Amino acid sequence: MANVTVIGAQWGDEGKGKLVDWLSNRADVVVRFQGGHNAGHTLVVGDQVYKLSLLPSGVVQGKLSVIGNGVVVDPWHLLAEIEKLGRQGVPIGPDLLVLADNACLILPLHRDLDQAREAAATQKIGTTGRGIGPAYEDKVGRRAIRVADLADRAALEAKIDRLMAHHGPLRRGLGLPDIDGAALLLELEAVAPKVLPFAKPAWLLLDELVKAGKRVLFEGAQGALLDVDHGTYPYVTSSNTVAGQAAAGSGLGPKGAGYVLGIVKAYTTRVGEGPFPTELDDAVGQHLGAVGKEVGTVTGRNRRCGWFDAVLVRQSVALNGISGIALTKLDVLDGLPTLKICTGYRSGEQHFSYLPAGLKAQGSLMPVYEEMEGWSQTTQGARSWRDLPANAIKYVRRIEELIGAPVALLGTSPQREDMILVRDPFQD
Ligand code: IMP
Repeated sequence: MANVTVIGAQWGDEGKGKLVDWLSNRADVVVRFQGGHNAGHTLVVGDQVYKLSLLPSGVVQGKLSVIGNGVVVDPWHLLAEIEKLGRQGVPIGPDLLVLADNACLILPLHRDLDQAREAAATQKIGTTGRGIGPAYEDKVGRRAIRVADLADRAALEAKIDRLMAHHGPLRRGLGLPDIDGAALLLELEAVAPKVLPFAKPAWLLLDELVKAGKRVLFEGAQGALLDVDHGTYPYVTSSNTVAGQAAAGSGLGPKGAGYVLGIVKAYTTRVGEGPFPTELDDAVGQHLGAVGKEVGTVTGRNRRCGWFDAVLVRQSVALNGISGIALTKLDVLDGLPTLKICTGYRSGEQHFSYLPAGLKAQGSLMPVYEEMEGWSQTTQGARSWRDLPANAIKYVRRIEELIGAPVALLGTSPQREDMILVRDPFQD
């Protein structure tokens, strides 16, 4: 298959960055299609650690990288990330990075609103506080400033007026100071000459590349259970995170998604608030958090940890049209005497084989577990099935059966090379 779409199949933080970094060797262009700098992708290459939030992970490999129209872009953050990578020896110019000219911007007023709302809310979402939700609200509300507007002073002035009319009452209600429209205009005009060299009609570039036989790697952010439609609403992010969004968020069309690789952690984690049926509040949960270094890349928050939930991943396989999965962090389970896999839920007398949509129902689910024997040997750094204990193989095979998708890749350490390749998504 020519293209590959990588998406998180749980609540994000499944280790997509490492996989995208590895797959980008085989791709000609890497594309982000949703989210913003709420994502946190950690890449470990040799002794260098790269932390990316907005830039496609392919930039580290020197691959042509595209920030698609479905992404909300904080231009100041974009420039800071470009500078940071430059200091780490990865120079990024317009030859390497393309920014869709029809992507919408995240402004300081979006960050203000995100943070003020979270601070005031009795029922918090636990957002990253980076303005993602408010920026998408303005996009859908048809008042967002888009990248191309940075070249058009009249458009900027009109849109700033429109934004001030909308945000003024909201800000006053939250006790925030009024927006200084003139200062915002100056800030945008200052940033424009640095951002505009990257701006292009990304859909056109992708169309040309695909017609020329080039291979596209789509890099999803967050995870399917944070999808604004299909996730644990309202405890979700504000974009569609499922594989179908690769088309709308890049302009390439639905046939372009190719092989859909779902990234799945060998257990479950989530950051922020919201239902989490297999969450563990005990020594095993602490083990997973400590050994798995489960701390958010963007916010530094501890991630909540729990057993593998096959119900959720099976749902994710269906929602994303997953062709195969990359199972990551198997080594974190090393040494646990017994492992549990959630195969269904009970709520009173009712049994569920899927995650029901209602928040009340989601909050009342009791996991039904199947137990398996763990393994005492280490799987860390394994690069072939022969290196794995029999019980680890059994665990992986059981997961495949329960979720209805095959394992294409198995990750056994943060290092790019430490994985077992069953099938190459680009060759499938
Ligand atoms: P927002 O995307 O900042 O609006 O946050 C909404 C929810 O998505 C919160 O629960 C965040 O913790 C979660 N979230 C956003 N980005 C990520 C990510 O990259 N990994 C995991 N969770 C995320």
